Amino acid sequence: MRSTGTFVFLCMCALTAYYIYTPVPENIEQRWKLMITDCFFRSLGHLADLSELLGLADYMDVMMLVTFLERVVPVSDERVKVTEASFDGVEVLVYESRLDRRKSEKRRSVIYLHGGGWCLGSAKMGPYDLLARQMVTELDAVVVSIEYRLAPLHHFPVPFDDVYHAVKYFLQPDVLDRYEVDPERVAVSGDSAGGNLAAVVTQQLHLEPDQLVKIKVQALIYPALQALDLNTPSYQQNRHMPILPRTLMVRFWSEYFTSDKSILTSMMTNKHNSAESAAMLKFVNWSIFLPEPYRRTYNYSALSISTDKTLLSLADPRASPLIAPDAVLHHLPKTYILTCEYDVLRDDGVMYVTRLRLAGVNVTHEHYEEGFHGTIMFTMWPTEFQIAHRMTDNYLLWLRENL
Ligand SMILES: *[C@@H]1O[C@H](CO)[C@@H](O)[C@H](O)[C@H]1NC(C)=O
Ligand SMILES: *[C@@H]1O[C@H](CO)[C@@H](O)[C@H](O)[C@H]1NC(C)=O
Ligand SMILES: *[C@@H]1O[C@H](CO)[C@@H](O)[C@H](O)[C@H]1NC(C)=O
Repeated sequence: MRSTGTFVFLCMCALTAYYIYTPVPENIEQRWKLMITDCFFRSLGHLADLSELLGLADYMDVMMLVTFLERVVPVSDERVKVTEASFDGVEVLVYESRLDRRKSEKRRSVIYLHGGGWCLGSAKMGPYDLLARQMVTELDAVVVSIEYRLAPLHHFPVPFDDVYHAVKYFLQPDVLDRYEVDPERVAVSGDSAGGNLAAVVTQQLHLEPDQLVKIKVQALIYPALQALDLNTPSYQQNRHMPILPRTLMVRFWSEYFTSDKSILTSMMTNKHNSAESAAMLKFVNWSIFLPEPYRRTYNYSALSISTDKTLLSLADPRASPLIAPDAVLHHLPKTYILTCEYDVLRDDGVMYVTRLRLAGVNVTHEHYEEGFHGTIMFTMWPTEFQIAHRMTDNYLLWLRENL
């Protein structure tokens, strides 16, 4: 009996170890911590799959648990005043310094858009709250963190429209004045899906001749920038990487557009392009826009184009800002783009760097060889990674010098 017990126990241990263990590249720091963190995310993903299969809950409803676990009540403290406001009907958090200052001196401002694949996340998550406070104390910035509505309840373009309306509202001269913000020093920034929304809103505002207050800089942290080619070298190389495996990113894209599962299926095999989006493939051609070192040993091959007339067209630059033509990119402000080696979205960011530079935009590109997707969120116990602090410091330094 005892030996059976021992045997079962050993099997359980082996299974647990097998489950926790994900091959994490050698050059990633604190590898075991990342494996354990990833184990939590993967378990949640499996639970979400199971719940959906059994018809108990939608996949994203279960994944939302991550957001709830990290949710905080953003409160004012002795240095930072936090207020909840509504900008043209969109919920926002405004973070301002409490320190005494000369009234005549206007402040800079950062409009921040959280990540989470347009389906998850909240401005009220601990790491975003912490980042906003750092921007207030270290940059003396007024931070507007937008609580845009999420898919799948609100598909594209609702999340983008919320961001657009809140930003337009904030950029009105009298509103900026109320917050003592210098209209010449406003940045838009965000990470992951938030980086997508930041890139899109910057493009849209620069297209409008009657938009008087312009965005001074955009800072994009491992942004998702295109839904056309979901098999770039970084998608292939990092398809099983912790935090954001390819399957999850593809799911985010498909849920952003629709709850129709047939899109998810065709996106998984990268066969979701219609004749209309095929005309845009030249803008996401990694054999042209990806510098040699990032291509590794991958070989470019033509994407298959569906003849299915009912296929939803994804050829909208308000979802995929990388497909905007040069004439649009040419007008964009100074840009900061952060990319991570171990990230399916790496090539989206790198290709945008190339395209923007070719269009004449001044771009700072910071690439982290030992970075993984979502790094900047890991600044708090129990999932605190040293690289997250280095990344935050470099990002804030760039904003201090350029905003
Ligand atoms: C991408 O670029 C390659 C050349 O590097 C070319 O052969 C191919 O046709 C291009 N594909 C598209 C869709 O533009
Ligand atoms: C790409 O092509 C080269 C030369 O034909 C080949 O050696 C290499 O294995 C290919 N890469 C992949 C990822 O298939
Ligand atoms: C880009 O911006 C940096 C930092 O402000 C500046 O030093 C550099 O001269 C600019 N480059 C170009 C090509 O304008």
